[in-house]
Amino acid sequence: MTGKGLRSAAWFEGEGLRAFSHNARMRQLGLNPAEHLGKPVIAILNTWSGINPCHMHLRERAGQVERGVWAAGGHPLEFPVATLSETFQKPTPMLYRNLLSMETEELLRSYPVDGCVLMGGCDKTTPALLMGAASAGLPTIFVPAGPMLRGHWRGGKLASGTDMWRYWDEKRAGTISDADWAEIQSGLARSPGTCMTMGTASTMTAAAEALGLTLPGASSIPAVDSAHHRMAAAAGTRIVEMVREGLAIGDVLSAEAYEDAIRTVLALGGSTNSYIHLIAMAGRSRIPLALDDFDRLSREVPVLASVQPAGEHLMEDFYYAGGLRGLLSRLRGSLHLDRITVTGRTFGEDLAGAEVHDPSVIRPVDDPISAEGGLAVLRGNLAPGGAVIKYVAADPSLWRHTGPAVVFHGYRDLQARINDPDLEVTRDSVIVLAGSGPKGGPGMPEHGMLPIPDKLLREGVRDLVRVSDARMSGTSYGACVLHVAPEAHVGGPLALVRDGDLVTLDVEARVLRVEISDEEMRRRRAAWTPPPPTFERGYGALYYEHITQADQGCDFEFLSRPGRDPEPDAH
Ligand code: FES
Repeated sequence: MTGKGLRSAAWFEGEGLRAFSHNARMRQLGLNPAEHLGKPVIAILNTWSGINPCHMHLRERAGQVERGVWAAGGHPLEFPVATLSETFQKPTPMLYRNLLSMETEELLRSYPVDGCVLMGGCDKTTPALLMGAASAGLPTIFVPAGPMLRGHWRGGKLASGTDMWRYWDEKRAGTISDADWAEIQSGLARSPGTCMTMGTASTMTAAAEALGLTLPGASSIPAVDSAHHRMAAAAGTRIVEMVREGLAIGDVLSAEAYEDAIRTVLALGGSTNSYIHLIAMAGRSRIPLALDDFDRLSREVPVLASVQPAGEHLMEDFYYAGGLRGLLSRLRGSLHLDRITVTGRTFGEDLAGAEVHDPSVIRPVDDPISAEGGLAVLRGNLAPGGAVIKYVAADPSLWRHTGPAVVFHGYRDLQARINDPDLEVTRDSVIVLAGSGPKGGPGMPEHGMLPIPDKLLREGVRDLVRVSDARMSGTSYGACVLHVAPEAHVGGPLALVRDGDLVTLDVEARVLRVEISDEEMRRRRAAWTPPPPTFERGYGALYYEHITQADQGCDFEFLSRPGRDPEPDAH
């Protein structure tokens, strides 16, 4: 391919003053004409930041991608983009997922870029980058950050998030000491990389691989393994070939690819957050995807990955057991093997030779962790737009339960009263949190694993039915009904539940209901007063005015709608 066939040629080729100016500035960057003219320009979008421990190795890894790009005859340009650090960014990185997606899309559109490598993995980063890239439509390859190594404490494993919540409950119950707790803090996160449980990060990077957007096997490689270095360089090489082949992201992202990604998430026992993200990503690909698609597939797909919180092991074990390729080899019969991936081969060809080395980590189809996908979509008068539960990570005795509601309005109310000794709560209660949805949260924070009151913990209670319009960390667990739509802030039925109302959860029947009459519901709604907006200016106001509900992916409606996307005039 000559430079003339490249999108970047609009910036660099020709006799006009604009091309002269652009090339003069390339000289200013220290580049000789032979180093970039006529070569595919590859943007490396790097979410490295000093505040993001999950991405702390990506500065070094970008150099390895560059090495691959140069080796293939391309011209790499690294772009630092926003970092969404799940741990540190408040109120929640979910508030900023769409901002990073907009930054991704607009950088790719407005600069002389022929193809891109996206680097990241911490929870919201993967969907944000892929949503933006899907809208931009260029050749795209994703380099997952990779999971961190196993945590360790006193000869045992520690799991990101999952064990933090578990030992926090034990500390509150008085079964571990302050010294134990300090040791756990030091052993929990031992290396760069994303959470090593099957949290949102590992779920979404696996989804990206199943969509066909990574090199085969890339999502399972631990962040610090030398295979991760080699994968990064190989991705740099491959993206240059993709530009030359004209293989764009839209050629990879098909309805079949999304269905395979959902099957993968379900077989992994993946994070409930993936529902929201995959719906949003599919929206950018103009592919309709609804909660009911997840529920339908959930009834067909067994959970095969024994990775915490649904199973026993961690991502490092999963990698040694065969990784995602091993798991996909178990699902071959139900996958769309003829679709193209970023390798230029079919998905089936990419799986050639994949096998499982440890069936205790990646279980056989006839000996699954759970015969169904472990994620259920619930509906009823409490969630007309739907709600979700990862029931495989909940106490099975609570899968069918009716109990009196103990209602909190907003997280501050919950924090203030949940441990009040006078709170009327028993092991049969249903804890309800209203006001933590996309608008009300704001940003739909991961408050959905509502704390169990101290007095119940001391009685030995370790799970309760909990219902909210919030999300939950993929590393969390428990009988937590999440994403109730519409949210309370916009007048969803959750806003109308009162203390003592009987709430019914029935996972098998896919029901979430408050046992009050339609007439009573109408009476309460008529008396309901809308709360004030959570933002009045700035990005928050943009977010507040345009965010959609959880069942629609929480994208901005102006980003997901179809419309004209003109190329910039570079001449
Ligand atoms: Fe980054 Fe968990 S905090 S992946």
